[in-house]
Parts: sequence; structure tokens; C-alpha cells
Amino acid sequence: MLAQLWHQSRCRILTVIAASTLLACTTAHSAAILEGERMSPVVAKEGMVVTSHFLATRSALEVLKEGGNAVDAAVTAAFSLAVTQPRSGNIGGGGFMLISSEQEDEVVAIDYREKAPGKATRDMFLDAEGNADSTLSRYSHLAAGVPGTVAGLAMALKKYGTISLRQAMAPAIKLAAEGFVVTPRFSDGLKDKKAMLKKWPSSAAIFYKPEGSFYETGDLFVQKDLAATLKRIAEHGVREFYQGKTAELLVAQMAAHGGLITMEDMKNYAPAIRRPVHGTYRGFDIYSMSPPSSGGTHIVQILNILEGYPIAQYGHNSAATIHLMAESMKRAYADRSLYLGDEDFVTVPLKGLTSKDYAAQIREKIDMDKATSSSTITPGNPLPYESDETTHFSIVDKYGNAVSNTYTINFSYGSGIVVQGAGFLLNNEMDDFSAKPGVPNAYGLIGGEANKVEPGKRMLSSMSPTIVKQQGKNFLVTGSPGGSRIITTTLQVIMNVIDHGLNIQSAVTAPRIHHQWLPDVLRIEEGISIDTIKILKEKGHAINQQAAMGAIQSVMIKDGMMYGGADPRRSTSLAAGL
Ligand code: GLY
Repeated sequence: MLAQLWHQSRCRILTVIAASTLLACTTAHSAAILEGERMSPVVAKEGMVVTSHFLATRSALEVLKEGGNAVDAAVTAAFSLAVTQPRSGNIGGGGFMLISSEQEDEVVAIDYREKAPGKATRDMFLDAEGNADSTLSRYSHLAAGVPGTVAGLAMALKKYGTISLRQAMAPAIKLAAEGFVVTPRFSDGLKDKKAMLKKWPSSAAIFYKPEGSFYETGDLFVQKDLAATLKRIAEHGVREFYQGKTAELLVAQMAAHGGLITMEDMKNYAPAIRRPVHGTYRGFDIYSMSPPSSGGTHIVQILNILEGYPIAQYGHNSAATIHLMAESMKRAYADRSLYLGDEDFVTVPLKGLTSKDYAAQIREKIDMDKATSSSTITPGNPLPYESDETTHFSIVDKYGNAVSNTYTINFSYGSGIVVQGAGFLLNNEMDDFSAKPGVPNAYGLIGGEANKVEPGKRMLSSMSPTIVKQQGKNFLVTGSPGGSRIITTTLQVIMNVIDHGLNIQSAVTAPRIHHQWLPDVLRIEEGISIDTIKILKEKGHAINQQAAMGAIQSVMIKDGMMYGGADPRRSTSLAAGL
């Protein structure tokens, strides 16, 4: 099979990772796995799970092994991540799930993003002088939106799964009750966030040893309160979280610390089924998350702009390609600042933003040789055409189903506040609203009226769970954490596969770039050559090399084989297949 793929392909030179040159025999648009490549994906035929924690990958793989479908495995993975990766896996936050069924030939999105509480007000994060107070929107009980994860996962399972909530939650309950062995990443994360987590006795009691010392690599980490909460939900169903003891614990904590979430807010929370954003790129169908995420809209918008250039010919991570990507990203993020918000509250010009005509208009303004200063870029006019820390997983089953799920509590460890007695962290997702027009959120993203705080509204997100199809078949399942960088990270994996023919592991691992209009800085990862950086600087880009961006977990499906690419940027990531 692999040999056959090899012979069908055509040879060409690809400039890849770390600016080294690799002779690869591949067809752009179709790279799978080829013997002799520097990075190889995991290969399987019956199912593939890629998550950011090996224990969650294993839990979900067991479900596939026993005949469960991708949704069963996804819900199992999500609850397991809530235990093994509390910095971003969660039941106190929210997210988005894309589900693609080849049999039904449809892609649906479940929106389980948090909502602003009923008592939220537009100016709730402004101080007496009218300035945005980021401590309030990030590190207080006011920072929490009404959590959507439990309702969203339960909805996915009920509508599209085959196992019970109890079955899906069993591995997570076991991991919380019996504990798991601490990894260096887990231990380091808690050391990094000591000040934030130790501030709250309910958090310190969970994340630090009774005498206050750190959990070190190799220690056993047990979460008794979380185990009890998960058990209650498994026994009594989703109602327990929103109307039972768990809701009471959360609301009591809110009342004691000036938070806004009430029993009424909990009871009223409901996830929504949405139609994903759809676009095309060089003959592939792109499905990604619609508002209240900005992710799908801007991935499609940027791809539309880039489709007008011979990107494969310009080369992977060449100065010309990076320049065009950055120029396209700037324009899309400028539009994001004005137009994007929760469509239940505002009208988003989705058709215009994702139209090929609008992309052509934008292309006319891009100079091949010179970076346009962000100060001269303003949101365009598409109307005539009508944590840093989040976590993503991608799962494919043997029945033709694929799940792409991104969920979050916003920052690493969210607000840092554990619900006393319930053992889970509260999100600080309210910071994703625009606290004040023009004032950036934690990711430097500017928002406006469309994303102002309103009761019951969902805050704008960048999460971009994405499924790419080729002639009706699932082809690429991908998505990433990374705040504002989620959109550009996901975009680059799509381009790495479609334009540059990289296999999925290379596509995931390759160095990435990011531009978000404001600040006017082209952020790059280690691995872009000095020569390339020099050319980009000559074109007028302000370059800033910073830490790695995102942790994209991806599956590619080609000719009946599944290829898993886990992101090495998160050391606990694991792709595993059947
Ligand atoms: N909290 C990050 C996002 O949803 O984009």
C-alpha cells in the first residue's frame, strides 16, 4: 500500500522544517506517509485518536476498540482531559465540536461556548474612571461565564453517540478517584501558576500538597472532589450539573465572592447546534466553526485570499509565502475586530467575509514587496456581498465519522478558582468579550460593539475545530489551542497539507508564523531561517521570535488509511490508532 503510494507520487523538492531541504516524492494535496521522511505520522486503518494527553488518547481509543463511534470516543476523551489536564481540559468551561458523518454527508457543529450570566452588564469590567479592569475580567468570580462543557458533551452523545454518559465518563472517574502519575509538564504548570492558584484556598487544596509543597514528576495526583462531581453527573445526568448539587456549589461560591452566576443562569444554559462555516480551497471543502467563534470565518477568508497566489510554487515558509500569509492575516483580524460576535445577538456579514469576491478585493491591496502598516489597515466592507491554553483533539472512526473538538477555560487554569467542594476550575472566558471598545483582551485582540457584554450572550472565540473534505470524504481533521493564534495555526496546517504536500506529522510540527493586525508584529517560531527573516524585514515586517504557538492535534485520511499527527509542542500529546 505504502509502496504503491510512493510510485503514484511525483518527486519534487520541498523546503521544510528548520529551513532544511528534503527530497520528498509526493503529490501536493495528497501527502500521506512516505518512507524516509524525517517525521512520520502514526498510521492506522480502523480508528485514530489524537489528543494532548496520552491518558485521554488511551481512554478514547478503548472506546473505538469496543465498537464505539468517534463521538463516543470524543466525549470520553473530553471528560478524561478534564481530569488529566485541568489547565485546559474542563467541565467548568466551554467549547465547540464539529462532527462529520460521511454516511449522512453532513457536518454539524455543537456550540457549547459559555454564556454571560443574566446579570452581566456592558460596563461590568470598567473601573470608576471608565478604564477596563483586567483583574476583574480575568481573575475574579466575575470572569466566569456559565459553563457549557457538560451540556455540550451530553448533547453530542445523545444525538450522535451510541454509549451512555455513564460509560463515557467511567475512565475519567477512575482517573480522578485513583489518580495518575504526574508528568513534568503537569508539575511545571502548577509551579508556574503558583501565585494565581494559591490565592484561592479551594484551588490550593487541590493543586498543592497539604503541606503546600509541589506535586513533582512521578507523584500520584488524586482528585477526590472532582471524582465525586463526575460520579454525580454520570449517575444523575446533565441536569445534576445545571440544577443539582454541583450547580448549588458553584452558585454558593459566586454568592460568597461577588460572582454573578445564579441557579437560574445554570438552569437556562443550553448548547446550540450550528451550521459550520463552509468554504473551498483549491478544490477541498473547508468546514470550520461559525460564530460565536471567529475561527471558521477567518480561516476561510484567509484561504480565499491566498488561493489567488501560487503558494506551492513560492514554497513552504519562504519569505514570499510568509509575507502573503501575514498580509492576509492582518486584513482578516482587522475585520474580526469590527464584525464578529455572537450571531444570536448581532448580524455577522458571514457571506461577505467568506466570499471569493471580497478576497479578490483584498488581494488588490496587497503589495508583493512591501508590508502594509497595520495603522493604515481598517476593517474592510464585505457587506455588499451580503491561552493561551485551550485544548483540541481530533478523532476518526471506521464508520466514516470524524470529530474535531476544541474546548477551554481560557487561560491556563482559567480564572484559577476551583469551585469549593466540586473540584473543578472556573473559566475566565468573560475576558473574551470586549470590556471596552478598542481595549485589547488578554490575547491583544481588539473587539467592538458586536462583542460587547450582554446578558445571555456568548463571548467571541477564536477556537477553530476544522474538518476538510475531499469529494465528500473526510480528509483532514484538525484544530488547536492558542488564543488568537488558533486561527493562524489551523490555517497553516491546512496549507501545509494542501499547498505543500507535507505529511500530517510534518505539517503539525513545521514552524509557524502569526499576524493579528494589532499589534503590528509578525510573530515567528524558532525554525524560520535567518535569510528568510532578513527578506521579511526588508519588506517592512516587524519580526518577533517568541515561544511556540498552539498544539494542533490532527488526523489525515487518505485512501482508506488514517494518519495521526500529534503536536510535539505539548509534550504529553499522543496520536494512537487501531
Ligand atoms: N478563550 C480563547 C478563545 O476562545 O478564543
